[in-house]
Amino acid sequence: MSRIFSGVQPTGNLHLGNYLGAIRNFVGLQKDYECIYCAVDMHAITVWQDPADLRSNTREVAAAYLAAGVDPKNSIIFAQSTVPAHAELAWIFNCVARLGWLNRMTQFKEKAGKNRENASLGLYAYPSLMAADILAYKATHVPVGEDQKQHLELTRDIAQKFNNDYGTDTFPIVEPLIFGEATRVMSLRDGSKKMSKSDPSDYSRITFTDDRDAIALKLRKARTDADPLPDNEKDLEDRPEAANLVGIYAALSEQTRQDVLKEYAGAQFSTFKPALTELAVDKFGPVGEEMKRLMDDPAHVDAILKDGAERASALAEPVMKEVKETVGFLAP
Ligand code: TYM
Repeated sequence: MSRIFSGVQPTGNLHLGNYLGAIRNFVGLQKDYECIYCAVDMHAITVWQDPADLRSNTREVAAAYLAAGVDPKNSIIFAQSTVPAHAELAWIFNCVARLGWLNRMTQFKEKAGKNRENASLGLYAYPSLMAADILAYKATHVPVGEDQKQHLELTRDIAQKFNNDYGTDTFPIVEPLIFGEATRVMSLRDGSKKMSKSDPSDYSRITFTDDRDAIALKLRKARTDADPLPDNEKDLEDRPEAANLVGIYAALSEQTRQDVLKEYAGAQFSTFKPALTELAVDKFGPVGEEMKRLMDDPAHVDAILKDGAERASALAEPVMKEVKETVGFLAP
């Protein structure tokens, strides 16, 4: 049986990259799969979060899922910390994963930066908790943006080693689902950096809370080069900022990059940017509006999260029972 799991960190500044690389893809998968979508608050605290902000940002991730079109009657939406299986399985996986594997994780290196000695132990063990998120439900497919690929490879390694060590076939080997024209949306200020929640410049990203004026201003200020758009993708290879805007246009209009270039070949950015603004306001604007509307009714969001936590717990329970027996823990 196929089952989808994915998560987003409630660290604020949800942006267009999160939407195009992941959240929008969650919606379409609902018709073919059983889907579980999580606000990963335990991952968020691997770096300091203000408690009041964390609560609000966790609701905001749930509201973003709903606004994008995730149906809570069909799919499960919940907060990670409300289902204890995640922490329990993460500990077991901490004992399966090897230091050498974690040492290779590029995200840890980037996030820890130069001051590695001062990074939290949780930040280091982050991918092992991520493997637990997925495998506590024996999920088989994981829709994510490009940047999570390495973490999913580690999830596969952990599943394989657990199965080998204990001589079982407990865990499936998960498949990443990385699709669409915007699997890696780049910063609007620097085409060599990905769009991220933590970039100090608000001009680097379009967020769910941006209105028409903010979207227009950020795209107007977006860094580009002086050349007109080419007529083929190959000629975008050395133009990361131009390639990024074309990719965003393609993803929002559900076309290929080549189709976009067919329409805009020879156009200057003074023409292309306003067209992209209109498209973004039209396609992404309403999602942000709906998210903000949902945030005005936190009780409604909380009720959905509570129902989701109950359904998620029911799915994780038999898996945890099996895992604990396999490992040799006594029944409680
Ligand atoms: P997070 O919160 O950083 O990002 C959420 C999702 O958005 C995608 N994404 C992007 N896609 C395209 N362009 C970008 N610039 C961009 N930035 C982010 C991410 O790839 C992700 O899919 N570790 C995960 C959260 C997580 C998770 C999981 C995901 C925890 N447990 C289990 C899947 C399964 C993360 O930090 O995502």
